[in-house]
Amino acid sequence: MSTASWPLGVHGISYGADYNPEQWTPDVWRDDVRLMREANVDVVALGVFAWSSLEPRRGEYTWEWLDEVIDLLHDGGIRVALGTATASPPPWLTTQHPDILPLDREGRTLSPGGRQAYSVTHPAWREAALALATRIAQRYGRHPAIAAWHLDNEMAAHVSRDYSDAAAAAFQVWLRERYATVETLNEAWATTFWSQRYSDFAEVLPPRLAPTVTNPTHELDFRRFSSETWRRWCAELAQTVREHSQGVPITTNLVPMTGSDALDLFRWRDTLDFVAIDHYTIAADPDRHIELALVADLARGLALGAPWMLAEHAPSAVNWQPVNVPKSAGDSLLGTLAHVARGADAAMFFQWRQSLGGVERFHSAMVPHAGTNSVGWRRARELGGLIETLDEVRGSRVTARVAILWDYEAWWACELPSSPSSEVRYIDHLRALYSALWRQNVTVDVRHPSDDLADYAVVLVPTLTLADPATAATLSAAAGAGAQILVTYFSGIVDLDGRVVPGGYPGIFRDLLGIRVDEFAPLLAGEPVGMDDGSAGRLWSERIEVTDAEVLRRFTSGPVLGGAALTRRSVGRGAAWYLATRLDDDDLERLLLHLCSVAGVAADQPAPSGVETIVRRDADAEFVFVLNHTDAPQSVEVGGTDLLTGNVHGESSIVPAHHALVLRRPRGRSQEPPVRRRRDG
Ligand code: GAL
Repeated sequence: MSTASWPLGVHGISYGADYNPEQWTPDVWRDDVRLMREANVDVVALGVFAWSSLEPRRGEYTWEWLDEVIDLLHDGGIRVALGTATASPPPWLTTQHPDILPLDREGRTLSPGGRQAYSVTHPAWREAALALATRIAQRYGRHPAIAAWHLDNEMAAHVSRDYSDAAAAAFQVWLRERYATVETLNEAWATTFWSQRYSDFAEVLPPRLAPTVTNPTHELDFRRFSSETWRRWCAELAQTVREHSQGVPITTNLVPMTGSDALDLFRWRDTLDFVAIDHYTIAADPDRHIELALVADLARGLALGAPWMLAEHAPSAVNWQPVNVPKSAGDSLLGTLAHVARGADAAMFFQWRQSLGGVERFHSAMVPHAGTNSVGWRRARELGGLIETLDEVRGSRVTARVAILWDYEAWWACELPSSPSSEVRYIDHLRALYSALWRQNVTVDVRHPSDDLADYAVVLVPTLTLADPATAATLSAAAGAGAQILVTYFSGIVDLDGRVVPGGYPGIFRDLLGIRVDEFAPLLAGEPVGMDDGSAGRLWSERIEVTDAEVLRRFTSGPVLGGAALTRRSVGRGAAWYLATRLDDDDLERLLLHLCSVAGVAADQPAPSGVETIVRRDADAEFVFVLNHTDAPQSVEVGGTDLLTGNVHGESSIVPAHHALVLRRPRGRSQEPPVRRRRDG
């Protein structure tokens, strides 16, 4: 990824939406451009789902309407992130090639009628989709309105894994690339177990529904393959449009929500010119603002700290939750600003004008069914005005002294069936650790284990079930240089082939941590364990033999009464800590605060409980985002000029309930954390 890439011709923090003019008549388009200008919209994602409107029959193109829309937008000064229109195959294609339809694990065909009904590995799909993308790129790639490419849409969102025959053939090719010989595959997959030895790659199928649980490494590799297949498809589309549009940056809207493990997004860094994500909050989640912050920090981690784009979020209600609650004014304002605070230099909605028909007719939009005399429109316009005040924030960076490791392969390995406890969910513990620091306003970078961790003062390693010895070496080097490393239960258990590292858990991290676990003792639901400092744990415990570490806490109840629950090994100028249970949230927060204080890490900008603070910095200034998620006004000990209002605050400021300040102050009043680098190679 080139970190310098950004949509062409935009200024300040961009504001916009998905725009689907094919659902409307030309008089509405004219009105749209007028209203976009009124709301300070400067960029729209166009044509994402327009295939059947652009190519109603194979090889028959109807460009005129899109020509007109692009010209109208251009004349109105609205920049275009142009779609490849490949996100949903038209009925003529699936009628001519029913075999491009994907299959689920149970062998059921995923029929047309929704969207993304294609097998990404199928040659007929690729041919038709690439032909369309080529024509679009040839026609519009040099149009002055084009700011960026928006490839396809939310790849893998609906079909993360395809079990069709086309996928089987592609899987076999991928396995041959990975293992070269079938013997190597047999070794990696431990196929002597249950008589699964293969004599040819052609015998290997996707892990379809079977009489019982399927081979774990087979499953792991199928997840790797599926993720990589989507990435290669993205790279192929990128190559296609790049040939016809020199210099136009390319992205796609990734979906790094904490519920989705479909794609190993860290591997997409080199495929895109800049990172763009979609993010939707779950109305029933009381901590949705923390989940939002985590995903935004993940986006920044994917972008290696460079600016990224929020390509979609909802102006208000969505249409796909059990009850689609509209956003409050506060949720809407704070939700947008929280992304910007964490490094987004563009905030876009799905979608511009609310559809009258189709599945998403009840999904909110900037221009709602009610028209401009509506809360939704007034809010959209007001937000556009506020975002315009943040122009000078663009390009400034967020830095952190704490990293939390996120690894999709470890996620997959952690949640494979037939493991010690199906209650151990990868994202649960990651989110718990992150939330504890969010509540203390400690800024966290989300990092991949292969990234450079050398400059962090604290590195958190939750549930990294699958790990590479190189990660142990990286962590050991970081600790040696002074970092406090915290590894948590069920980490370092299996190698990259999913095989258990023998000799006592956690094989990969045994030496780093100075411990050896001889038996897991996961806990049944509702079965807490106590510790000698009064804290409580759930979900997990284990029998630890300490080989080269001090025991900081012991279990005082449960299956390993008297055993170690928290250990610490000094490593160079730092230390490697190990936590053997899922601490209750308050206890976890206390532990992490202690770790931070040992490491000399504090909040960039302290604030009362429920007030989120994040600092973005450039060469001359700091921009302190203060987001009040509480029902009462709050006071923070920070002054500066509030960019949102122009008001100047002295040494402290009041932030109204469910409102925000973005305070600019000259650089240098607080200590600047070091800038991160990615580890090469
Ligand atoms: C996204 C998708 C959009 C729209 C939106 C509704 O996942 O990319 O096209 O469907 O959800 O929330």
